[in-house]
Amino acid sequence: MATIGNSTNIFWHESPVGKAERQKLLNQQGCVVWITGLSGSGKSTLAYSLNRELHTRGKLSYVLDGDNLRHGLNKNLGFAAEDRTENIRRVGEVAKLFADAGLICIASLISPYGKDRDACRALMPDKSFIEVFMNMPLEICEGRDPKGLYKLARAGKIKGFTGIDDPYEPPLSCEIEIKQKDGICPTPPEMTTEVATYLEDSGFLQA
Ligand SMILES: Nc1ncnc2c1ncn2[C@@H]1O[C@H](COP(=O)(O)OP(=O)(O)OP(=O)(O)O)[C@@H](O)[C@H]1O
Ligand SMILES: [Mg+2]
Repeated sequence: MATIGNSTNIFWHESPVGKAERQKLLNQQGCVVWITGLSGSGKSTLAYSLNRELHTRGKLSYVLDGDNLRHGLNKNLGFAAEDRTENIRRVGEVAKLFADAGLICIASLISPYGKDRDACRALMPDKSFIEVFMNMPLEICEGRDPKGLYKLARAGKIKGFTGIDDPYEPPLSCEIEIKQKDGICPTPPEMTTEVATYLEDSGFLQA
């Protein structure tokens, strides 16, 4: 019997079907691919492109995208620091469940604070949290601005916008860094291949 947070008198009920059995069924290893970076850095682009690539290879993945989750699970959260932290905590817990289900869970969120990302990493077994840093300069992201949010932030119409008047803490160490080479940004297919190759080489695409 345990007390966890505000939950008292709770018991863990063990599943008779284990993670190893689920992974065998799917012929893959459950893991979390956590994509972090500024708005406009290409997180969703990479997430859904990787989702498609893995699907084509017969691997089951699912995308937890920041904006999409704010339509439901996280719709009661705003963008104050404590809400951003709770947003990431919830997604980290859901990602953990998806990985335990045997899926390759692709989480794409700005996730600006290092300690929040590290807390999600700490939920996962060793090596099964793959942090992908979209290391794109602010000028590039702002130049893309497909949602027009940077424009609104610069005009002071959005307060606390990451990269403008709210901090982004780059990962100190991450498994994959997507960045410009000789001033040229990798194309979406190139970014996708880089992550898919990492997953393959690390043994996640078989059980
Ligand atoms: N590798 C790339 N090369 C060129 N353009 C790209 C690349 N990746 C993404 N883009 C373009 O950049 C824009 C922003 O990409 P995307 O929506 O994936 O960013 P995001 O990081 O998910 O942003 P947000 O945090 O606001 O959701 C889109 O218009 C997309 O088509
Ligand atoms: Mg996005």
